Amino acid sequence: MRRYPLIKKTLQNGSYTIKFLKSGESGNTHLLTGKIRHTNQSPLIRTILRNRFEIVKLLGRGGSGDTYLALDLDLPGQPYCVVKHFQPKDSNPDALPISKRLFAREAEVLYQLGNNYDQIPRLFAHFNENENFYLVQEFIDGHDLTEELIVGQRLSEKTVFNLLKEILEILVFVHQHKIIHRDIKPQNLMRRHSDKKIVLIDFGSIKKMSAVGTNATIIIGTPGYMPSEQAKGKPKLCSDIYAVGMIGIQALTGLMPSQLQEDPNTEEIIWRDKAQVSDSLADVLDTMIRVRHSQRYHSAAEALEALTATQIISPSSQSTEPNTNTDDYLLLYKKFILLLGIGLGTITSLVLIVLIYTFMFTSTSLPNNPIQLKFKSFIEKFFDLTLVKTDIPIAKSPNNKRVCNSNCAIAEDINR
Ligand SMILES: Nc1ncnc2c1ncn2[C@@H]1O[C@H](COP(=O)(O)OP(=O)(O)OP(=O)(O)O)[C@@H](O)[C@H]1O
Ligand SMILES: [Mg+2]
Repeated sequence: MRRYPLIKKTLQNGSYTIKFLKSGESGNTHLLTGKIRHTNQSPLIRTILRNRFEIVKLLGRGGSGDTYLALDLDLPGQPYCVVKHFQPKDSNPDALPISKRLFAREAEVLYQLGNNYDQIPRLFAHFNENENFYLVQEFIDGHDLTEELIVGQRLSEKTVFNLLKEILEILVFVHQHKIIHRDIKPQNLMRRHSDKKIVLIDFGSIKKMSAVGTNATIIIGTPGYMPSEQAKGKPKLCSDIYAVGMIGIQALTGLMPSQLQEDPNTEEIIWRDKAQVSDSLADVLDTMIRVRHSQRYHSAAEALEALTATQIISPSSQSTEPNTNTDDYLLLYKKFILLLGIGLGTITSLVLIVLIYTFMFTSTSLPNNPIQLKFKSFIEKFFDLTLVKTDIPIAKSPNNKRVCNSNCAIAEDINR
């Protein structure tokens, strides 16, 4: 079990995300992201904000507020959108400005990134109404990755490779803007139904890196997907890489990060024996989740490059794929069907020949049956023609004339 004493305690209380806001003399301040509670007990349901966004349903309750599904009444067809209501759960007055800053930053980043990248939701509006802050964003019609990463179910290497590649491609874009997401986890990755692409959501934890690097900051993240430097308040771009690596390991092993043991000496996570994976992909994943951040890939671009190289170096790694096995079985099955067809065809022909022969020549048949007689004469003509044709090249040679004559005599015998 990874060592996050405070977080472990929180997990026992039923929450899965902790936002450690501040350390002070009076104690530490945390924001908790709990599981969805009483989803229909929200006073905002059916409220129309700005005379435009009608709240329909509660989607989730997070540390900074509630997230709702809403209708955009201004647009043709009144499409869905997502409304985030800023309502920090922490009663500590010190936490409020931090939460406010994070909420404002989420809007800023969605506006900056979402408008330019198809796999990040677009920002539609950001406003204050009756002393409440709201953020309206594009609704992603899909499901989150918790529905694909099922405990006890291992995904194939090829599926995991594609998953990692797609997440890293989004992160390359995010990291290019010097933004650390800080909360990469299955709940914040949605698979859009229309094109099956992954969309990264929840920019409520992001950190913008300053020109001089990242100073010590508040601690935000989710246990299991959060590396040690992030847990110490010093996140780096490669902290997001750690989270992606953990998602890959979760997919390959069918185990939650909290179910994995760590090496007591090195503190590295032990997972290889619980997965069917090629050495090349396992090496990339191990580099992604190194305890010491300096030993990890420094950015998403670097990790993506190493990941794609595994396909070039080790195409044989694909041989462990159940998909490849399925193809082999399909080919074998096709061959079997073909051979079976040929065999059955041959047997049917033989049976037919035997039946015809019996029909023609058995004593039980009538001697003057017209069909039988016609068939008999046809067979006789056929033999006759065949014999004459065979003789032509032989008869051309004067030495072979005798052979021709004798064969013709046989043919004449048959005709009589
Ligand atoms: N753009 C979106 N499209 C579809 N569903 C969304 C979208 N944004 C959020 N959701 C749904 O709402 C849930 C909660 O939203 P989100 O992850 O942004 O906030 P949170 O984790 O509850 O809060 P916090 O920002 O405080 O961490 C998500 O897990 C997802 O199911
Ligand atoms: Mg979230």
